Amino acid sequence: MKKPQLVLLASFLAILCSGTTALNETYYANICPNLESLVQGAVRGMMSTTNIAAAATLRLFFHDCFVQGCDASILIENPNGDDERHNFDNQFLRAAGYNTVLAAKAAVDADPQCTNKVSCADIIALAARDAVFLSGGPTWKVELGRFDGKVSTASSVDLPGASENYDRLMSRFSVHNLTPTDMVALSGAHTLGATSCFHVNPRLYPTIDTTLDPGFASQLQGQCPAALNANIFIFFDNTVVTFDNDFFKQLQQKKGVLYSDEILYVDSRSQGIVDKFAANQADFFTAFVDAMKKLSRIGVKTAADGEIRKDCSFTN
Ligand code: HEM
Ligand SMILES: *[C@@H]1O[C@H](CO)[C@@H](O)[C@H](O)[C@H]1NC(C)=O
Repeated sequence: MKKPQLVLLASFLAILCSGTTALNETYYANICPNLESLVQGAVRGMMSTTNIAAAATLRLFFHDCFVQGCDASILIENPNGDDERHNFDNQFLRAAGYNTVLAAKAAVDADPQCTNKVSCADIIALAARDAVFLSGGPTWKVELGRFDGKVSTASSVDLPGASENYDRLMSRFSVHNLTPTDMVALSGAHTLGATSCFHVNPRLYPTIDTTLDPGFASQLQGQCPAALNANIFIFFDNTVVTFDNDFFKQLQQKKGVLYSDEILYVDSRSQGIVDKFAANQADFFTAFVDAMKKLSRIGVKTAADGEIRKDCSFTN
């Protein structure tokens, strides 16, 4: 290889490396050796207090990563109210998720070795993993070393919506280098939790969405009256606090509660993935872990553009 080519190669590699953030699984091994058990203890505690804690925590992580990256910007409370939490797309995030992360942060900071040394972004990633595992789902090693973002604005939030079709949803996932398999697997997070009738009523009134099983549609009409009551919640599957593949079996029966979920079965491009996950829970778990690892690498901040927040709700 000639010299100029070598130089070119070296600079190309340098650019590549600067774009890749150095997360690793043992980042806190010497800094805060008890980190993982402290977080897991807090998640377990919150889950025993409220059965929506796991679902709320997992969703919080998704809404964090898809906006400005996995940098805990979703937790920031700006005094003027201009922050991600106040965007309409985040209005149904439940307090239990925030409370789980804040309890985990308090548990971590109570260990003198760890005080103010672990980022809120890493704590959310760990808490989301534990929420899945403690609900009966898979577990995995979380890559760590994220820094916390310093910016949160309401206008930066642009998240997938429940009425979006396959192309629209896929375009949102592919900008983050996530594949159709990743998208279907991650949507399997809807094995936990519930939706407000706010996201169901448009499929029921004035006419019934043709992607819904008619019998299931009348059942939903019984639960969600035509005069919208956004405080009524519908479970996504039959095993609401268990992380399993029942959600995909519901989609096969046209009993997906959200249009954006049902379309993953109705659209021929992803139907095979739904069938595979419905037939084999282990396949779902493997794909979910793979996709969660990818999700958790989005937009990671470093010491150059981030900080270790003292209070997860406020920048330092
Ligand atoms: C594919 C695009 C997605 C759309 C359109 C979507 C939309 C929604 C909607 C509308 C709700 C109900 C909110 C409410 O009314 O309370 C919801 C709940 C939820 N979402 Fe998603 N979601 C998507 C992907 C994801 C992903 C990738 C995850 C996590 C990996 C996730 C985790 C959850 C969880 C756990 C809940 C239940 C929350 C609770 O019960 O408090 N979602 N989602
Ligand atoms: C993980 O990353 C940290 C910070 O960059 C570094 O100090 C540590 O040596 C890394 N560990 C491994 C196993 O690569």
